[in-house]
Amino acid sequence: MRIHYTILTITILLFTSCNQSSNTQGGVSSTSSLASQIGIDILKQGGNAFDAIVATGFTLAVTSPSNGNLGGGGFLVAYTEDGEAISLDFREKAPALSYETMFLDENQEYSRDLALNSHKSSGVPGTVNGLLKIFNDYGSGNFTLKEIMAPAIHYAENGHYINATDAKGFDSYKALFLTDAGSTKIFVKDINDAIINIQKAFKNGDLSEEDYAKELASIDEWKPGDLLVQKDLADTLKRIAQYGKAGFYEGETAELIIEEMNANDGFITKEDLFNYDSVYRNPVVGTYRGNKVISMGPPSSGGALLIQMLNMIENFEIKSMERNSTEFVHLLTEVQRLAYADRAIHLGDPDFWPNPIPMLTSKEYAKERLALISMNSATRSTKIAAGKTLSKESIETTHYSVIDNQGNVAGITTTLNLSYGSKKIVDGAGFLLNNEMDDFSSKPGTANAFGLIGYEANAIQPFKRPLSSMSPTVIIDNEGNPIVTIGAAGGSRIITGVLQTIISIVDHGLNIQEAINVPRTHSQWLPDNVRYEKDALTQQTISELEALNHIFEHNGTAENGTYTLAQIHGVHLKNNKFITGFDKRGTYDENEGITY
Ligand code: GLY
Repeated sequence: MRIHYTILTITILLFTSCNQSSNTQGGVSSTSSLASQIGIDILKQGGNAFDAIVATGFTLAVTSPSNGNLGGGGFLVAYTEDGEAISLDFREKAPALSYETMFLDENQEYSRDLALNSHKSSGVPGTVNGLLKIFNDYGSGNFTLKEIMAPAIHYAENGHYINATDAKGFDSYKALFLTDAGSTKIFVKDINDAIINIQKAFKNGDLSEEDYAKELASIDEWKPGDLLVQKDLADTLKRIAQYGKAGFYEGETAELIIEEMNANDGFITKEDLFNYDSVYRNPVVGTYRGNKVISMGPPSSGGALLIQMLNMIENFEIKSMERNSTEFVHLLTEVQRLAYADRAIHLGDPDFWPNPIPMLTSKEYAKERLALISMNSATRSTKIAAGKTLSKESIETTHYSVIDNQGNVAGITTTLNLSYGSKKIVDGAGFLLNNEMDDFSSKPGTANAFGLIGYEANAIQPFKRPLSSMSPTVIIDNEGNPIVTIGAAGGSRIITGVLQTIISIVDHGLNIQEAINVPRTHSQWLPDNVRYEKDALTQQTISELEALNHIFEHNGTAENGTYTLAQIHGVHLKNNKFITGFDKRGTYDENEGITY
């Protein structure tokens, strides 16, 4: 089954001229054309980039069901017209009742099912708090919250027509949705007593797996153009619009979340919800060939790894290297190996762990690390350890981005972790719960759903935020002008996807859409292999790389393109034209992405 990641991407752009229409006031790229249009409408009505991004984010919670994000968390990276670089961390937090070994079974082995498919897999959601903070702190003041949220409420209450991606997603997760009352109501087509009875019979052991699969297959399938009405979600949104964060973290919504937790052995309590707050943090900042790169710091690993890898690559003449040639992929893989080894050891929630950001993002450290690799042969990952910390100095997936005509740039990446999060809906409140707790390292050295390894820095602790790969990033040119805002969905592949897109833009002179279209490769230290998209590598290149001792994860890649290595979205200002870029990877719809 194809893995759909819950991280979704939108790009919003406000400009006086663009590549699509000379009189336009803005451009939006997202996984939902409806949500994109709402952002545009807000811009047209005098809103700024921050108003637009919040309106789009709330609409996505309705019209982009696999990743719509009331029940998850994320990050904002922005650059204001006054030249202030800001980042807001609204990542989920581990509930007070969580503990280090909570996803280990009786044999002390990591239980993937518990970590991904249970109510315990949910961290305390941060998105509502984050979006409201952005609106309050950076919005233009020209809109009330009710006005910003009205379109989202409208689509939840009256329904919206689903697209092909949604239809496939709903049907492919049917069996999991049927394990949860809330999800069954919303995502199982024409839910009725017969279907409930099939489910009960299976649960009671009266149906074999084979017969159950046959019965499931006989349930009506979703089709593009079907209407999805979400009344409970509309009510939740109305409470937020009326009471602000108290409409989610207190009162009826909070009570529904607690009932859901109590009925299903979940850990989130009333206090966890009441005490949740998002945090402004220092973004990580580096340079690449004279451009300033501003990205998300811990609890995301995205910015630090991105800058570390760019620092290493800056030492090579990339311009003259053919894209996806043996030389290019070898270098890229070695650099990724070095950076992800550091991720595993050095990075975690900055409230709990001293992240060595100055070291990881320094040009000197990049050179030291490069001394460990050779351009003539792949280094085995078992021979690469994390770099030694030089000092104790501490501190330190939906993506949507905006550039407005006042020079404000904002990018948000949010995630439920995997597609549809834990596949559990808060019954009565109508939104999905995340399974972000799997982003922690549940057992030292044991891979999570993204194959990522971690240790103490990212161990589960109450109130801690799990380490992320989300990488909302802004690039400023050497004259101080924002030229790119970019981000991605795709778990551990986000960072390497954003990296390769930036290389295509800066070194190979492509525009953002061309850069996104270039097929990619990915590696992450462990597992010690290279994944590649369909059309990324010729058979000859693969053979040459194998001769350099690289190991390939062929399964499902070259032949049928099962792997889509991150979905990138962003906006690029090039030759005085704004170009919006969107990624068709992982979608079944031609018209998703740029809608304006
Ligand atoms: N849940 C994926 C990430 O945050 O990296």
